[in-house]
Formats: sequence, C-alpha cells, structure tokens
Amino acid sequence: MNKTVICPGSFDPVTLGHLDIITRAAKMFDRVIVAVLVNSAKTPTFSTEERIELLREAVGGLENVEIVSFKGLLAEYCKKCGVGTIVKGLRAVSDFEYEFQMALANKKLNPELETVFLAADADSTFLSSSMVREIASMGGDISNFVPACVHDRIVERLRK
Ligand code: COA
Repeated sequence: MNKTVICPGSFDPVTLGHLDIITRAAKMFDRVIVAVLVNSAKTPTFSTEERIELLREAVGGLENVEIVSFKGLLAEYCKKCGVGTIVKGLRAVSDFEYEFQMALANKKLNPELETVFLAADADSTFLSSSMVREIASMGGDISNFVPACVHDRIVERLRK
C-alpha cells in the first residue's frame, strides 16, 4: 500500500525540530506532504512564500517530501487530498493536551483521519519557531536551532 501522510504546521520559520519530524516521517512513509498553514487571522513573520521556500531548501535531499500550503480546516484539506494520516511531533508532556484535543477534533470532523505522534528528538524538546525568532532578532546564535542551508536567510530577515 502506498502510504501518504501530512505534516502540518505554521513553520514560521522551519526549525531543526520540524526537520527531524519530517525526515523521520519520510523514512517511515512513502510520501510526506508538508502543509504550511495560511492563517488569515494571524500575521506571520515570514510570508507563506518565504516559509515554503525555506522548507523546500531544508528538505531538499528528501525525494518523497513535497511542500504545499493550505487554508481552512486541516481535516477538510486531508479529505480533499485523500490523505488519511497526520504526523505531528510531541516535544514534551505540555504539548500532549493540545495535540490530543486537535487529534480528537480532527477525527470528529473527518472520521477517516488518524493522527500519529513522533516523540521529538531530545535536542528539540525546548525548541519553537518563536524562540528562534526572538533569539535571532536580538543577535543571538541560532545555528543549533535551524537547518544550516537556510540559517543565513533566516538571520538576515530577523536581524533588527
Ligand atoms: N520541533 C520544534 N518546534 C515545534 C515542533 C517540533 N517538532 N512542533 C511544533 N513546534 C512549535 C512550532 O515551531 C510552533 O512554535 P511557535 O508557537 O513558537 O511559533 C509551535 O510549536 C506550534 O506549532 P504550529 O505549527 O504553529 O501550530 P500547531 O502545532 O498548533 O498546529 C496546524 C498547526 C496547522 C496543524 C493547526 O493550526 C491546524 O490544523 N490549523 C488549521 C485549522 C484547523 O483545522 N483547526 C482545527 C484544528 S482541530
């Protein structure tokens, strides 16, 4: 069976934590769709195009990964694409309640939809996109937090 999964998120910007989850999903499944949320209620730091571009570069060597953007409900988007599995990373117990709530809501909206959680890599458990944005904007070193190939572009955009 050809198994396609979706890795959704804001990716504002992509971090090594995201890349860890995407890379491991790409080893476990035949095809991984990384779906960047276009949320009209929020103003992201990086535009949708920038987030897609950074992700494309970060996952460059992974042939079974593609990057798309989506609007609206994830459950509806999965239905439209014919994808039945969401893959998400769990960084800490604190992620669990929120992720569990989303997984249950998504299943109510689309009963065919399963959510699979991968335990985040130990080095990523504290990491988040907003932390990367804050550190870089204050001139801190983010080289341990973001993929090397997109590091300079992220720093350039965030430097105040
Ligand atoms: N490594 C590092 N950081 C991670 C991470 C990982 N493995 N997983 C999550 N994060 C961080 C992100 O960097 C982000 O950090 P920030 O808050 O500092 O920016 C934070 O965790 C939250 O991740 P994010 O991708 O922004 O959102 P989310 O996990 O809450 O969910 C969607 C994103 C797209 C899945 C969700 O908002 C969605 O489905 N939206 C569509 C609308 C919808 O269907 N709503 C109903 C849902 S039931």
